[in-house]
Amino acid sequence: MRKNIIAGNWKMNKSIDEGKTLASSVVNMVSSKLPGDAEVIIIPPFVHLTPVKDQIESALNISLGAQNCSNHDSGAYTGEVSANMLRNVGVKYVIVGHSERREFFNEDNAIMAEKTTKALAAGLIPIFCCGESLEVRKAGEHEKFVSNQIEEGLFHLSLDEMSKVVIAYEPIWAIGTGETASTKQVQEMHRSIRLMLMDQYGDAAAEETSILYGGSVKPENAEELFSQSDVDGGLVGGASLKAQDFVDIANSFK
Ligand code: PGA
Repeated sequence: MRKNIIAGNWKMNKSIDEGKTLASSVVNMVSSKLPGDAEVIIIPPFVHLTPVKDQIESALNISLGAQNCSNHDSGAYTGEVSANMLRNVGVKYVIVGHSERREFFNEDNAIMAEKTTKALAAGLIPIFCCGESLEVRKAGEHEKFVSNQIEEGLFHLSLDEMSKVVIAYEPIWAIGTGETASTKQVQEMHRSIRLMLMDQYGDAAAEETSILYGGSVKPENAEELFSQSDVDGGLVGGASLKAQDFVDIANSFK
């Protein structure tokens, strides 16, 4: 059985105190067993990782994630944080290839491929993001675009490595815009991603891979999205900054 996951990407938000309060509220509101046996991941900014870890330590179904890692191991890379450093402070998951990294920091598929490898080598689980812009969607090129991101970002991995990866489909036009992709659009893309995985890695690996949806997930649309057969949870931005909304989303599995 593949895992249901709700990941809260705080992006560059919250002071340390606000972050501690948010994390402890989530811990207090999440019951020990969520519907669908879902795992909750809190993904704060780097400097919040250790204080947030202290808050969530007692919660069995809440894990710590990071928003990014370097594609290098160590050395003169000012401002960067390595996958090993993240592992050292108790991080379990790391986002790779978020569209904001691709857009604002010019990170391309080749860099994402390197980051995925570094994350896995450090014992982290990459949450590999993919997703098209509105122009690409309008041109009807979205499946080709996303399949190219996956091919170039992930298909260098062995079957064993791939079996650890989580994929997040995040259409850029739905991120932070309040506009969610329709349930049909989401299911279609998730299905097409799973079929790609089947071709490359076989049925078992494809069936075991969790594919999350991201882009304006909120309590009002989570249940319908998560009811789709190829949607295994969500990568949540804005709504993860409010404990009640985030926990309501985490409770949206059947
Ligand atoms: P959003 O962000 O939920 O605010 O749309 C999702 C994401 O960027 O991961």
